[in-house]
Amino acid sequence: MRLTNITFGFARWKRTLFWLALSSVCFLSPYILRAQATSKEMCLSCHGVQGLEKVRDGKSVSLYIPEETLSRSAHGALECVACHADISEIPHASELQPPQCSSCHADASRDYAESVHGTAYARGAKDVATCSACHGNHNILPAKNPDSQVYPLNLPRTCGGCHGDPELAKRHSIPVTNAYQLYMDSIHGQALTRSGLLVAAQCLSCHGSHRIFPASDPRSTVHRTHTPDTCGNCHVGVLKTFTSSIHGREAKAGNPAAPVCANCHTAHQIKRVEMDSWKLEIVRECGTCHAESLRTYRDTFHGQVTALGFTRVARCSDCHGSHDILAISDPDSSVAPSRIVGTCRKCHSSANASFVKYDPHADPHKRARNPVLYYTARFMTWLLAGVFGFFGLHTILWAGRSFLERHRENHHHSGSASSQATNAEEGKK
Ligand code: HEC
Ligand code: HEC
Ligand code: HEC
Ligand code: HEC
Ligand code: HEC
Ligand code: HEC
Ligand code: HEC
Ligand code: HEC
Ligand code: HEC
Ligand code: HEC
Ligand code: HEC
Repeated sequence: MRLTNITFGFARWKRTLFWLALSSVCFLSPYILRAQATSKEMCLSCHGVQGLEKVRDGKSVSLYIPEETLSRSAHGALECVACHADISEIPHASELQPPQCSSCHADASRDYAESVHGTAYARGAKDVATCSACHGNHNILPAKNPDSQVYPLNLPRTCGGCHGDPELAKRHSIPVTNAYQLYMDSIHGQALTRSGLLVAAQCLSCHGSHRIFPASDPRSTVHRTHTPDTCGNCHVGVLKTFTSSIHGREAKAGNPAAPVCANCHTAHQIKRVEMDSWKLEIVRECGTCHAESLRTYRDTFHGQVTALGFTRVARCSDCHGSHDILAISDPDSSVAPSRIVGTCRKCHSSANASFVKYDPHADPHKRARNPVLYYTARFMTWLLAGVFGFFGLHTILWAGRSFLERHRENHHHSGSASSQATNAEEGKK
């Protein structure tokens, strides 16, 4: 009795187990089959064979995917369908959706969607930066890997594939048509590519990666309100000085006329400040905002020599400073009464209080600024006008008189000539 009970119990348990196993196999089988059907091995049974092609827009495109490309990438462990998520059975549709990245990289995808590239892509632009245009497709590597397309040494070329193409810029009305070429010639580009300085600025350091916007967009890292901080990430000391200068304070206060780093240095053509060409350009650059000061400076000895292309004499920044420019009325300004002698002494070693009375912006048209110069200039003008006027009048009168005299003389001569002729005729008779 006891034994049969046990036997019966065991049989029941076995039967239950059997049905349970059978029903779960039936229930799960589609999933198991599908997982096998869309496994990497299954995909590679076709796509791992060289020569698989398809014709797209009249051109044949290779659909051969070498397995080692993917296995060496950051995504070596992923199934193909992790990205090609719209494939659920084999054979699959012949036109597939673009691969998706957002299920795993939500932050990057959200940032990209907001950016100038992402919004243009959503509008249907085909030639715009996408995840795979910047990162690659099956060969995506960690950003820190020196072979990655977004590694600092490689990134300028990656962005430059599009931002070195004037045609693309024209199609999209991008104001800077050849950022790549300009950048490569700049101090930053040379420092990166020639000296291999990873700490030099490249596209990413100034523009960011996923949140890139036009410079006119306040969210952009190169919008004028953010430029000083963007450059200041590396040029920490310069930023500190600039922030307390009159330009820095005015810019911070929102004065749209105040210069920020890129106004004076440009964005992509930044040169070493020791270069003569830059030393002369910056004078013109100050003059784009301070036109009056440039005009008066050009009239002075310093200005005339600089205009000839020499950099030895004083330029604006030699007297006013560069990042530390203060209001003229500020007692700490480099041209304030207490400091100006020292400023001139940088070059004129014997400068003293009377030497600095010389006005570097002398303007003979402004009486209030320098009455002596004003009246001297006035006097010289009147003197010149008087001298020219007097001698001009004199010359005119003189010319008139000599004309009259010559006329009279001619008249007299021709009169005597005709009387001589008459006399001669009369003599013949
Ligand atoms: C039986 C062979 C076969 C298998 C298995 C296969 N493919 Fe394909 N695949 C093709 C062929 C053929 C094409 C070209 C389709 C066409 O031109 O109509 C193609 C095209 C593609 C394309 C390009 C689609 C497009 O829009 O241009 C992608 C992506 C792709 N396959 C991914 C996969 C993935 C991922 C797997 C595994 C889940 C897979 N394939 C399994 C044969 C196969
Ligand atoms: C990390 C995501 C990712 C994985 C994993 C992935 N792919 Fe792709 N695949 C892409 C991207 C991105 C493209 C390019 C799409 C484009 O250019 O429109 C692509 C394109 C393709 C194409 C079309 C080629 C062409 O020129 O359009 C095929 C075929 C393909 N993949 C097959 C595979 C196969 C097979 C696997 C697995 C061995 C796989 N992919 C794994 C992201 C991935
Ligand atoms: C305009 C070029 C560009 C585009 C478009 C782009 N990326 Fe990036 N991405 C970069 C650069 C540059 C870095 C390196 C960032 C760094 O080192 O700070 C990067 C870094 C990453 C990283 C690693 C660091 C991180 O932020 O987590 C991931 C993941 C990534 N990108 C995914 C994506 C995805 C997904 C997309 C599409 C939605 C995308 N990227 C689009 C340029 C781009
Ligand atoms: C199924 C999830 C998944 C999908 C889909 C996916 N990735 Fe990844 N991705 C990962 C994982 C996991 C890593 C490696 C983890 C890590 O190192 O952060 C990675 C790493 C990366 C990296 C390197 C990050 C770094 O450390 O610098 C980039 C770039 C990247 N993925 C871009 C993409 C792009 C572009 C796509 C779409 C074509 C994509 N991923 C699709 C999961 C995914
Ligand atoms: C595949 C081509 C491509 C790549 C790669 C690319 N871009 Fe772009 N970029 C574009 C296009 C196209 C636009 C214009 C989008 C539009 O119409 O609004 C654009 C717009 C921009 C703008 C805004 C210009 C404006 O005023 O509209 C900036 C800044 C920019 N890209 C910087 C970068 C940087 C930095 C990189 C590299 C990290 C990069 N791009 C990579 C194609 C590309
Ligand atoms: C040192 C910082 C810096 C570096 C490096 C840099 N840029 Fe710029 N970029 C700027 C600034 C600042 C602007 C704002 C416009 C200006 O002043 O010309 C700008 C403007 C642009 C624009 C036009 C955007 C607009 O709306 O006006 C594009 C496109 C661009 N950069 C692409 C690039 C590319 C591509 C690279 C890398 C090859 C790069 N930049 C490297 C600072 C930089
Ligand atoms: C009003 C014009 C102007 C602005 C704005 C400006 N700079 Fe300069 N910068 C100059 C001049 C002029 C020099 C050359 C100084 C010299 O010859 O002593 C210079 C020099 C430099 C140097 C070389 C080091 C040195 O001091 O000689 C760096 C780096 C620099 N600037 C970065 C920046 C950064 C970063 C910003 C923004 C925070 C900026 N500049 C804003 C005019 C300017
Ligand atoms: C990622 C860091 C980084 C950023 C961001 C950066 N720079 Fe630089 N910059 C450098 C490095 C490094 C050098 C030195 C290169 C060398 O000496 O070969 C340099 C050199 C310079 C010089 C030449 C200095 C000299 O001694 O003649 C100027 C001017 C300059 N940067 C201005 C700027 C401006 C303006 C910006 C912003 C629009 C900026 N930089 C953004 C790293 C950066
Ligand atoms: C030899 C030194 C020197 C040079 C070079 C020089 N300045 Fe001045 N600047 C001064 C002095 C000193 C003053 C103060 C004059 C005063 O008291 O009114 C001044 C005044 C100014 C002012 C205040 C407005 C005004 O006129 O009173 C501006 C703006 C200015 N300079 C800009 C410039 C610019 C721009 C340049 C180059 C084109 C330049 N300076 C070249 C010494 C110089
Ligand atoms: C983008 C325009 C711009 C550029 C470029 C510029 N400045 Fe200025 N500057 C201003 C503004 C705005 C102010 C503050 C308002 C004012 O006093 O005119 C100012 C103020 C000054 C002052 C103080 C004037 C005063 O009356 O106290 C001096 C000096 C000066 N700048 C010199 C320079 C020099 C030197 C350069 C070139 C290295 C230069 N600026 C480049 C816009 C500019
Ligand atoms: C960057 C150097 C430099 C600075 C700063 C400078 N100068 Fe000059 N200056 C020169 C040079 C070089 C000459 C050419 C004549 C010479 O060698 O003495 C010159 C010539 C002159 C001349 C006419 C020629 C003469 O010697 O009689 C006057 C006046 C003059 N400077 C006044 C000033 C005053 C005032 C200041 C200060 C506000 C000043 N300079 C700051 C370099 C400078």
